[in-house]
Amino acid sequence: MAEEKGRVCVTGAGGYVGSWLVKLLLSKGYEVHGTVRDPGDEKNAHLRKLDKASENLKLFKADLLDYSSLLAAIEGCIGVFHVASPVPSGAVPNPEVELIEPAITGTLNVLKACSEIRVKRVVVVSSVTAVLLNPSWPRDKVKDEACWSDKEYCRATKNWYHLSKTAAESEALEYGKKNMLDVVTVCPCFVFGPMLQSTTNTSSLFLIKILRDGVDVLENRLRHFVDVRDTAEALLLAYEKPEAEGRYICTSHNMRMKDLAEKLRSMYPNHNYPKNFTDAKEEQVLSSEKLQKLGWNYRSLEQTLIDSVQSYQDAGLISKD
Ligand SMILES: NC(=O)c1ccc[n+]([C@@H]2O[C@H](COP(=O)([O-])OP(=O)(O)OC[C@H]3O[C@@H](n4cnc5c(N)ncnc54)[C@H](OP(=O)(O)O)[C@@H]3O)[C@@H](O)[C@H]2O)c1
Repeated sequence: MAEEKGRVCVTGAGGYVGSWLVKLLLSKGYEVHGTVRDPGDEKNAHLRKLDKASENLKLFKADLLDYSSLLAAIEGCIGVFHVASPVPSGAVPNPEVELIEPAITGTLNVLKACSEIRVKRVVVVSSVTAVLLNPSWPRDKVKDEACWSDKEYCRATKNWYHLSKTAAESEALEYGKKNMLDVVTVCPCFVFGPMLQSTTNTSSLFLIKILRDGVDVLENRLRHFVDVRDTAEALLLAYEKPEAEGRYICTSHNMRMKDLAEKLRSMYPNHNYPKNFTDAKEEQVLSSEKLQKLGWNYRSLEQTLIDSVQSYQDAGLISKD
């Protein structure tokens, strides 16, 4: 029988990363309060089918901009995983309202509720987009947790999602210091792997498009990848390890897009792959050494790709050849 671990809250429980985290927490014996914007929506039905969900998962209707709804979900919890944040899949006409406000105010609302309830630790899901966009970082130096995206640069280059995650993460760590709240942040890179939810999230859609639509032109950029199940493990480690502190970059593999398309072609030759790749500027490699020192391991990229493709095929999103 699983050991009882206490009650924790996961915001954005019905999303891609949130769902895998809830599944992992339930399997480890945690009781989970999951926040979703609409508990009655069919898109959250998969949560109730998870092992142990009937006994140990309670869903709460909460919006990041509604403090009292978050407080009600966090009440009675000893830990919180703040996963919810808008992840755009296309153009963002009004970035302040659509991205920046929910990311920053939403994070501060979660943290204030955590202070009020006196939770022991909060793990905030940030992103490598809060690390990468730093034009002053030395070109030949691996980017580690000391590297922060430059908010002014994000704004000037209209990288609104990068700005939302950078501002939310820096405010979270600052809030923790000022208010004696134990806040740890995790910055995942591009997350792939099987989907538990029935709707398609942005990072999965990126891979699906490469396999399905035959994207004509793709920038041959160096990208970093991590499996969604390894991301959930990283979040749990950041919560459970007493020595965890500050931020943790979460990346397993890096590859240029052309090499990723070639790898997929060798595994699944019958799909339409991008025909042309444009040159991309040199980009530095990211390091997850700090997370690995905490005890984090990850699976192979091949395994992630095989399980992703299987999941998209099972959902009827790509053909079965
Ligand atoms: N997937 C990646 O490649 C990746 C990489 C790095 C970091 N991340 C981070 O991981 C987290 C989860 O992302 P994901 O990939 O799992 O995307 P996702 O499936 O789109 O999940 C986002 C979640 O945020 C919730 N949300 C958005 N705005 C909200 C609001 N105003 N109030 C309450 N909930 C709100 C969504 O709820 P609804 O279902 O109600 O819309 C959804 O559950 C985000 O913080 C994201 O920045 C993701």
